[in-house]
Amino acid sequence: MKMNSKVVCALMIAITILSQLTYAQARFVKNLEGHWKFQKGNISDAHQVDFNDRNWETVTVPHDWAIYGPFNKDVDKQTVAIFQNGEKVATEKTGRTGALPHIGTAWYRKTFSVPEFEKDKKAILLFEGVMSEPEVFLNGHKIGEWKYGYGYFYFDISDKILDGKNILAVKASNKAFASRWYPGAGIYRKVSLIVKNRESIDQWGTFIETPYISEKEAKVTIKTKVTGDQIKLVTTIFDAKGSKVNSNSTTEHFGNEFEQNIKIEHPNLWSPTSPYLYTAVSQVFVDNQLKDEQSTRFGVRSIKFDSKTGFSLNGKVTKFKGVCLHHDLGPLGAAINKAALKRQLTILKDMGCNAIRSSHNMPSLEQLELCDEMGFMFLAESFDEWAKPKVKNGYNRFFEAYAEKDVVNLVQATRNHPCIVMWSSGNEVPDQAGSEGVKRAKYLQDIFHREDPTRPVTVGMDQVKSVMESGFGSILDVPGLNYRVHLYEEAYEKFPQGFILGSETASTISSRGIYKFPVVQGKMTQHDDLQCSSYDLESCNWSNVPDEDFVLQDDKPWVIGEFVWTGFDYLGEPTPYDKKWPSRSSYFGISDLAGLPKDRYYLYRSRWNTTSETLHVLPHWNWNGREGKITPVFVYTNYNSAELFINGKSMGIQKKNTSTPQNRYRLMWMDVKYEPGTLKIVAYDDDGNQKAVKEIITAEKPYRLVLSPDRKTIKADGKDISYVEVSVLDKKGNPCPTATNQLKFKVKGDGIFRAACNGDATSLEMFHKPTMKLFSGKLVVLVQSTKRSGDISLTVTGNGLKPARTQIKTENLTLE
Ligand code: GAL
Repeated sequence: MKMNSKVVCALMIAITILSQLTYAQARFVKNLEGHWKFQKGNISDAHQVDFNDRNWETVTVPHDWAIYGPFNKDVDKQTVAIFQNGEKVATEKTGRTGALPHIGTAWYRKTFSVPEFEKDKKAILLFEGVMSEPEVFLNGHKIGEWKYGYGYFYFDISDKILDGKNILAVKASNKAFASRWYPGAGIYRKVSLIVKNRESIDQWGTFIETPYISEKEAKVTIKTKVTGDQIKLVTTIFDAKGSKVNSNSTTEHFGNEFEQNIKIEHPNLWSPTSPYLYTAVSQVFVDNQLKDEQSTRFGVRSIKFDSKTGFSLNGKVTKFKGVCLHHDLGPLGAAINKAALKRQLTILKDMGCNAIRSSHNMPSLEQLELCDEMGFMFLAESFDEWAKPKVKNGYNRFFEAYAEKDVVNLVQATRNHPCIVMWSSGNEVPDQAGSEGVKRAKYLQDIFHREDPTRPVTVGMDQVKSVMESGFGSILDVPGLNYRVHLYEEAYEKFPQGFILGSETASTISSRGIYKFPVVQGKMTQHDDLQCSSYDLESCNWSNVPDEDFVLQDDKPWVIGEFVWTGFDYLGEPTPYDKKWPSRSSYFGISDLAGLPKDRYYLYRSRWNTTSETLHVLPHWNWNGREGKITPVFVYTNYNSAELFINGKSMGIQKKNTSTPQNRYRLMWMDVKYEPGTLKIVAYDDDGNQKAVKEIITAEKPYRLVLSPDRKTIKADGKDISYVEVSVLDKKGNPCPTATNQLKFKVKGDGIFRAACNGDATSLEMFHKPTMKLFSGKLVVLVQSTKRSGDISLTVTGNGLKPARTQIKTENLTLE
């Protein structure tokens, strides 16, 4: 029988409802996202049940109270010397934490009801991240607190929860001098309520390993911690299509742990190129009655770190082509949003990136889910500080009491994600120097090993000489070097592991579409407009340009890969302008804060994306006033040679060569004199055949706007976002790369204007206001769905410009 798509749809809905009903019997999970009441301030009785919060703002969680600004140089202004940056003298720093008003205390209150909560049930309240130092109250009683803003934590509230209406109150407090970047503020990740039977799987009680893998079969070992007596545990594995693969039923347990070994024949392995996922459904029975049921996604894959071959995934030597990411999502702040994360990963995938490092803290669970699905390896980091401070009010205050708890929760909550291939216990911790630090490194690594014997642990080390002396570097499973390309060779000789990871590399600084002359390599170079040159030759005192890392990756088989600082610009840390207002966000990103690729994106793409062609030329060709002046042209391409033509005249062929790191990876015409017109690049293969052509043309004045949404259909879930890129063309249709027109945005229909961002690190325009200037001819508008399905229209206008409009659809059911 052939079914039409409507019938299939109806069937799928019926199956979903049915499965939810069965699920509901055993376990009930509620995402506490809507209708929170919010108020800034230290309000003494806000935890009381009868507190009147009627005049408080209504918000949804995830929420970031500080992202709405305004930017203010006095927020977290500090007179400090940043020792890790090699500073010796204290100077006034503005914008270090993003200049957004994140400091202070705020309260959240939410009323929720649990219909028919029976006394023999168990209730868990799970927080995936509150910035910071949350104190949690239920029905007027304090049920607990946490300290680390990045930690996942939960409380058993079985004794405090009431049948019917409950009042949850959460206090969050951010101190000044507590972070080196914008941390966000408030309940910025998910909160859920889990109601289950007493006889049930413990929170994060499932651990899936794949200790044996061959082409023929894989052994899946599933350890499950269950509370209750007379338990029978049935675990069934399903493949990616939902077909049953195999199952096991057991009553045998040691303590509260059940261990099952289940075979998968001819397993589909997980890898970045083929991110295949299985699901294990664990069912707890007592007297043949279903008491609990939980699904866990996992992958079948093997990892090996070896002194001879470095890192292998599924038996294949693989190098990390990775990026470091801070947790903020630019214009959304720290409030987690899956569409925003997915867009970032989509952009990185096209670049050929295969790995992410969550610097310098626990990743969101949504990001891990996406990395599992989309195929990214993951280095999950825990801390930027141990017991010794980098900033006065940083994690050092909590290390003694919380480090173990935070690591345990990180590992237990995330260890079933196949994407995670390594843990990091710290980044450039000042504890590196001295014997205390070696003990701490060992202490943390042992906790990781105890909780997860299957993955190694690294630390991003910057004090390379002292960790060679102290033994700190030798005890780590994976020695990670942050920058210091000149010390790789020596570290490799001195450390026993036989390989080195570039745990943090490059820290090249640039502003999208901004070019500075003369074109020279520089460290901490400053320009009057507080921008950095996009010729990709500027870096920091401690860092380098990408090509220097490429040399190590290519010439040293024992270098197992790199994690570039950073995939995207982030709020805060505006090096080299941290003393200059109004710089308020970073220049390190391969893409800018709006997610728009800078030139550097194509440099990485030209080597990392081995399946697509890259041919990118810079700078733009709109240099009114530079006529006759030296204006070098760079080309980033996977081809080894290319010819440059200006207005039809050849400027010669350039070939990649090993004379300098730059000449090895870029094609550069250093003596070109600017004349307006057409700049054309012809790329050749090694036999001299023409393979690709690219042209850029000097634009006339801005004439009309163009909108291109990254997705034309989004989910009507009140969360999904379409990112609409706005650019401007001249009358002939050429992009205007220097346009800075002020634009206005209007959203109508079944969606809302969520935010805009132009990637300018010095802009003080607020992201949530429906107007913004173009930066280097572009910006991005974020259009968010409501819970109504239908059509959304975005209209963008600007003085003297032909306006543009785009339509986006929102749908209730997206079959993925
Ligand atoms: C590193 C540090 C990062 C960031 C980066 C900037 O030393 O680990 O968090 O500060 O420098 O270059």
